[in-house]
Amino acid sequence: MHNINFFSEDYQENPYYYYQQMHAHYPLFYHEPTDSYVISLFEDVERAFKDPIFTSQNYSWQVEPLHGVVMIQMEGREHAKTRNVVVPSFRGKELMEQTLPLIKQNAAALIAAFNGRDVVDLRNEFTNVFPIKVIVDMLGLPGEDLHLFHRWYSCFARHFENIANIQEILDIALAARDEFRLYMSKVIDERMEQPGTDLLSVVCTSAIDGVEMTKDRIMGFCASLLQAGGETTDKALANMFRNLLLNPDQLALLRQDKSLLDRAITESLRYSPPAHMIYRVTSEKVKVTGGEIPANATVVCMLGAANRDASKFENPDEFNILRKEIDPKTAYSGASGISSFGFGRHFCVGAQLAKMEMQVAVEALLDHMAEFEFADNKVPREIGIFTRYPENMSIRYKARQ
Ligand code: HEM
Repeated sequence: MHNINFFSEDYQENPYYYYQQMHAHYPLFYHEPTDSYVISLFEDVERAFKDPIFTSQNYSWQVEPLHGVVMIQMEGREHAKTRNVVVPSFRGKELMEQTLPLIKQNAAALIAAFNGRDVVDLRNEFTNVFPIKVIVDMLGLPGEDLHLFHRWYSCFARHFENIANIQEILDIALAARDEFRLYMSKVIDERMEQPGTDLLSVVCTSAIDGVEMTKDRIMGFCASLLQAGGETTDKALANMFRNLLLNPDQLALLRQDKSLLDRAITESLRYSPPAHMIYRVTSEKVKVTGGEIPANATVVCMLGAANRDASKFENPDEFNILRKEIDPKTAYSGASGISSFGFGRHFCVGAQLAKMEMQVAVEALLDHMAEFEFADNKVPREIGIFTRYPENMSIRYKARQ
C-alpha cells in the first residue's frame, strides 16, 4: 500500500476496493510517493479533524496563491473570530428568511430553461450552475455577471485539482484571480460606502477586535466561498442523482414518501461525499490506530473511506436511504454521523445551506421529471480522487404534465 498510485486507472475506477484493504490491513500507512501518512477509519478521521495537533496549514499551497489567507487555513483565535463573522448568515432564521427564497427561485429558473426538451445534461445545465448562482445572490453580486463568476470559479476549481502542478493551469487560475479582484475591488468600495443586507455588506462592515477586514481579505473570502460552496454542492447533487438512478428501489421509496428526502440526501452524502481526501499537518507526534505519526507530517484523511467503515455503518457499500445509523437532524450541525462535512472547528460553515440547496433542488427536479433515466442508458463514470463525481449527467426524462 505504501506505493499505491492514486492516479492509476485502477484506483480511480474503484477506490472503494482500496478503502476496504486500508480498513482491514493498513489503517495507517506511510505513502512514499506523496510523503504522507494515510488514515481511513472513521474514528481516526474524526479525531484528526477535531484534535488541534492536526493543523490545517496544509491548505497553503492550494489556497494562498489564489486567495491569500482564508478561514480554512487559520487556526486558534483568529479562525474562531473570522468564522463568527459569517456563521449567522449560514444558520437558522437568516438562512430561512433571506436565502431560502433565492434558492427556490434559482432552482425554478434553471428547470424552466429545460424548456420542453426530453434530454438534458443535469451537470452542465443544473448542478454546476445552481450553487454558484445561490452564492452570487447571497453576496448581493449582480446576477447578470453570473457567467463571469462561473468562469472564474471554474478556473479556481481546476487549480485545486492540479496536484501534478501543471504551470498552465496555475497561470489560468492566476489570470482569473486578477480579473476577479479587479471586478470585486470596485464592488467592495461601493458596498463599504453604502452597505445593504447582503453577505458581502456583512463582511465589509465587520470588525475583528475592532479592526476592519482588509479589502484583500474580503476578496479572498468571497472567492473561497464561491469555490467551497460551488464545487461541493454541484458534486453532491450530481452524485445523488447518479445514486438514485443506480438504485431504482431507493428512488421508488423516495417517490412514495417525500418525508424520506432528508434521509436520502444524508445517505447520498455518506455514500458519495464530494470530498474524498483532505490533508492535515501534525504539530507534534500522535498515535492513531495502527501506529504513530511523527511531528510535521502531512496526513491524508480519507473521508470517502471513513464513510464506508464497516465498524460504523452496517453494509457500508450499500446505498440505503432507510439506514438507521444516520440521523439527518444532527448531520448538518457538527455532531455529524458522517464525515462528509468534516468535524470540529473547521466543520463546514455551509452545511445547512448545502442541505437546503439539495432539498430544494432534488424536490423540484423530482417533481418536474415524472420519469427519468440515463440518456442512451449510459451510466456516467464516477471520476476523481480528491473529489469524486460523475463526469457528466445526461438524462432522458418525461416531464410531469
Ligand atoms: C469547510 C464539505 C458546502 C463553505 C468544509 C469542510 C468540508 C466541507 C469537508 C472541512 C474542510 C476541512 O476541515 O479541511 C462540504 C460539502 C458541501 C459543502 C460536502 C456540500 C454538499 C459548502 C457551502 C459553503 C461552504 C454551500 C458556503 C457557501 C465552507 C467553508 C469552510 C468549509 C467556508 C471552511 C470552514 C472553516 O474553516 O471553519 N466543507 N461543504 N461549504 N465549507 Fe463546506
